[in-house]
Amino acid sequence: MDGSNRAPCIIALAQRKGGVGKTTLAVSVAAELSGRGFDVGLVDADPQRSACEWARPGNLGFPVYEMPFDRDPVTAWARQARGMTGDCIVIDAPPADRAVGAAVAIADVLLVPCTPSGLDLESTEHTLAIVRAVRERRQAHLGVALVPNRVDSRTLEGRQVIDELRAFGETVAPPIGNRSAFVRAFSLGCSVSDLAPGEKADLEVRALADLVGRLAPHLQLPADAASNFA
Ligand SMILES: Nc1ncnc2c1ncn2[C@@H]1O[C@H](COP(=O)(O)OP(=O)(O)O)[C@@H](O)[C@H]1O
Ligand SMILES: [Mg+2]
Repeated sequence: MDGSNRAPCIIALAQRKGGVGKTTLAVSVAAELSGRGFDVGLVDADPQRSACEWARPGNLGFPVYEMPFDRDPVTAWARQARGMTGDCIVIDAPPADRAVGAAVAIADVLLVPCTPSGLDLESTEHTLAIVRAVRERRQAHLGVALVPNRVDSRTLEGRQVIDELRAFGETVAPPIGNRSAFVRAFSLGCSVSDLAPGEKADLEVRALADLVGRLAPHLQLPADAASNFA
């Protein structure tokens, strides 16, 4: 966006468990950053190709690249991802330990979605063990946030999940609710900000994008005035 030839900011959505919202949040954050004027590309690293499917109707305002994690040796995959150009590259990682490790190795910001299920919390603990092992070996700063997804923070159950995530000792993102807008956006191949601008799902994604900006200061995200968390 600023015409410099800086390496893009890499934002990875990773978690060793499936069904936690990686693809939903990867597409949503990519759309939000693209809407803020950044040159964004989304790497679909999951052989299930959900992000590619989301993009198929052609309504997303940014490119989605099919780059399955299992096709090439991990070093070749990482080199290809790091060689991409633009302001931000959002990676939708597959639910696998090696993919979490590779995403952590190359990302500037890592978002780990987690829904209220006990299985997700357990899997988040294992995911964080991988994150910490890889983070120790790298030089560059890595911003990590756990993202409570499909969580109603007004309920006791919702607040408990958020507390349990906080206990892991990493940043906890503002929660994303269980919202039909995300499901409809996928069926229509658009983003929640296109489908339902100003509604809760959209505001929650904006707050998540604001957090990404704080975790990656060099991305210089313009603050979003409409967000509650700016
Ligand atoms: N915040 C949410 N509200 C409602 N449905 C959601 C939400 N996040 C994810 N989903 C739904 O949950 C399912 C799994 O989400 P997905 O993003 O595909 O997870 P993953 O990529 O981790 O496997 C999808 O059907 C998706 O539409
Ligand atoms: Mg997925």
